[in-house]
Amino acid sequence: MKAYDKDLAYIHDTGHGDFAGNSAPGLLQILHSCNINSGLVVDLGCGSGIWAASLLEAGYRVLGVDISEPMLEIARQRAPSAEFRCQSFLNTQIPACDAITSIGECLGYLFDEANSYGALLTLFTQIHKSLSPGGLLIFDFLEPGIVKGSQQVQRFREGTDWAVLVELSENHATNRLTRRITSFRSKGSDNSHYHRDYEEHNVQLLNSSLLAKDLREIGFRVRRLRGYGEYRFRPGHIGLVARKI
Ligand SMILES: C[S@@+](CC[C@H](N)C(=O)[O-])C[C@H]1O[C@@H](n2cnc3c(N)ncnc32)[C@H](O)[C@@H]1O
Repeated sequence: MKAYDKDLAYIHDTGHGDFAGNSAPGLLQILHSCNINSGLVVDLGCGSGIWAASLLEAGYRVLGVDISEPMLEIARQRAPSAEFRCQSFLNTQIPACDAITSIGECLGYLFDEANSYGALLTLFTQIHKSLSPGGLLIFDFLEPGIVKGSQQVQRFREGTDWAVLVELSENHATNRLTRRITSFRSKGSDNSHYHRDYEEHNVQLLNSSLLAKDLREIGFRVRRLRGYGEYRFRPGHIGLVARKI
């Protein structure tokens, strides 16, 4: 299964990087409000390193983990002094750290077939052990109900040298969202040749109340977010800040 191969990694970085860019000021505010002003931040599903670069600039050390090597190629260029690992966040050894972030719905992705609600609870237990006292886990995800009924929603976006067509559907029995993504990326300077590619992304939709309850049982104090700072999420997109007690 393809997971942000070269073309889609480029398109995500140039066409969807505004999510990480717009979230960064609010995320930094959350860290500062908890007196986390330096130290190591681990970013799970770091993508092309936009948030990692903001963290470095603000004086943190960064370990970024992502399953897509093409995403990490961009991240290494953007944030050369961060450490990056090409691994699933479910397998990676999380070091002792001050905060852990996972922004842009990463934890719901099913690129790693071992991902499930149970696997995430095991990950959160591991995260709780790795965080310093008062340390933060900040992440966002999609809840069920993104696509109503048995509809298939079609969307497109374009940039100067790419276009992307997405068909979205939701399985309400399994709480799984499927994005069928056809991309076109220019292969020449005059945009006369385009490479066509296709990826299918499955995402598990997570229940925020259940997650908050389970995180509290693991030993976190939990707060819900409607966005990062001034930047608001779209309907059905929720954030949680979990502080190690
Ligand atoms: C929507 S992108 C968000 C990227 C970045 N956080 C941002 O906001 O720009 C989701 C990212 O999660 C990564 N991802 C999905 N499943 C993963 C897994 N099991 N382990 C590590 N990374 C994963 C993808 O490769 C992709 O880079």
